[in-house]
Amino acid sequence: MDSIILAIESSCDDTSAAVIKNGLLMSNVIASQKVHEEFGGVVPELASRAHQQNILPVVDTALSKAGITANDLSAIAFTRGPGLLGSLLVGTSFAKGMALALRIPLVEVNHLQGHIMAHFVEPSAELVAATPRLQGVQIRHPEMPFLCLLVSGGNSQIVKVEAYNRMQIIGQTIDDAAGEAFDKCAKVLGLPYPGGPWIDKLAKEGNADVYPLAKPNMQGYDYSFSGLKTSFLYTLRDLMHAHQADNVDALAEQIPHLREDLCASLQQTIIDILLKKLKKAAQDLHITRIAVAGGVSANSALRDAMVALGKKQGWEVFIPPFSFTTDNAAMIAQAGYYKFMDRDWCPIDAAPYAKTTI
Ligand code: KG4
Repeated sequence: MDSIILAIESSCDDTSAAVIKNGLLMSNVIASQKVHEEFGGVVPELASRAHQQNILPVVDTALSKAGITANDLSAIAFTRGPGLLGSLLVGTSFAKGMALALRIPLVEVNHLQGHIMAHFVEPSAELVAATPRLQGVQIRHPEMPFLCLLVSGGNSQIVKVEAYNRMQIIGQTIDDAAGEAFDKCAKVLGLPYPGGPWIDKLAKEGNADVYPLAKPNMQGYDYSFSGLKTSFLYTLRDLMHAHQADNVDALAEQIPHLREDLCASLQQTIIDILLKKLKKAAQDLHITRIAVAGGVSANSALRDAMVALGKKQGWEVFIPPFSFTTDNAAMIAQAGYYKFMDRDWCPIDAAPYAKTTI
């Protein structure tokens, strides 16, 4: 009998649904919310409302793209947490309602474990044929154990992955996540939300040596990005003061390549911070299979830097396809599929959680 699972992801500001059939991804539909752009960050209440509007059409499209109906489903997987509680409630309630109506099992997935499981997604030939972004993309699955640098808008962690359901956090941020540093600094520069992709783009035209920024001095494998944010803000403030400029636009008229050089400097500093600890963890734990996951893993300079460091260190480096870096239900479907096959189902009263470790 086929195992067909519908997965639902609604932890932050992307409503996504995916279908996985016997371990092959059949569809992955994502509705991103534009409503937050004008606020420079995700507004939780608006996110929940937008999820409510999006979830039905997103699920419907995921089912029809997979060529199935709800009656074909074997189980529903959903992101239980961590994330914004109001957002998670929409996906969780929808998943429960559907599982109850169809009398099929419910499978809960930890969002962070999902990001790591993005490395194991295997799109079907039909999905690849219908998705230009997946064509020609070689997907390599890391053998266990491996180390994963998990970097997103809400998390920055180094995780030792021993099995799909056995992961250990080796180090993590004590304050902001790397994605948050990208987004908040982008906001200061007057760039739209989310700022990470904008910084990635502008940094390509900039010089990373122009503005030295503060790096934390943390023990062990932990990260900190709050000092870097402050250092970025003060650099800009001092420049504005020195040039008697009232705002960033006025300053940019006086200093050529201001935004580009600031973006390049910030991006390089974030990458240096991330990779220094990753290198130390890999050396100390004697692990040479190294992966990256989460929204920030879409950053082109981080991807290049990981490949370059991997060559020097003798690592086998695993970088996920762009489609599975930022929040998506394909990764939830993959994690959900493994749990379903292990009959690791969850009770109907499982409540979402905002915070958790892996
Ligand atoms: O994984 P994700 O979609 O959501 C969370 O689970 O947090 O990650 C979103 C984060 C945002 O901070 C966004 O700015 C960042 O990923 N991001 C990037 C890039 N694309 C997305 N950061 C740097 N460079 C990028 N190209």
